Amino acid sequence: MKKALLLFLVGATLSACGGKSGSEGSASTTPPQSMVADEPVDDGMGVGEIKSVELNDPLKPDMVSRGESIYDMKCSACHQLTDQRVVGPGWKGLTSQRKPEWIMNMITNVEVMLEQDPAAQALLEECLTRMPNQNVSIGDARDILEFMYANDGKPVGK
Ligand code: HEC
Repeated sequence: MKKALLLFLVGATLSACGGKSGSEGSASTTPPQSMVADEPVDDGMGVGEIKSVELNDPLKPDMVSRGESIYDMKCSACHQLTDQRVVGPGWKGLTSQRKPEWIMNMITNVEVMLEQDPAAQALLEECLTRMPNQNVSIGDARDILEFMYANDGKPVGK
């Protein structure tokens, strides 16, 4: 836990490579006190409101294109659609690497994820930039998720 706290502080100080957004708007929400704070059980779902996601097969084209527009506006500055890292990790392969619940919690609850989720903390350790809260609604996050599956080659319906 100590190490995580330290990384959190380091990440907060070294936000330079993340651009100008810095810490504004990240009013520290008090996370719910976990009874197993010292030894969190990681189920790969992340921390947040999203407890289960129903996937579409094939993907819904209207959701994919809405997700793409949001990506263009709010995410493309830091995330490539390849596996190449810019500020944040590239998105290629993300949907086979992470559970959909984790991805949506990361998008909608990023501050808490960076403080409490082991996988998110590992990313922060690598990138040394805190992903800013983009105020993405759960519905928009779901569209982005649909777009991420399309980006990973899952068939899109008509
Ligand atoms: C200012 C840069 C920035 C912007 C803008 C940004 N992100 Fe991120 N994102 C990051 C960084 C950096 C990380 C790695 C975690 C960390 O260090 O905070 C990350 C991590 C992620 C991850 C986890 C990736 C993985 O490999 O597991 C997801 C999912 C994600 N971002 C989604 C989004 C979405 C969706 C948007 C747009 C709504 C977005 N991000 C906008 C910087 C950004």
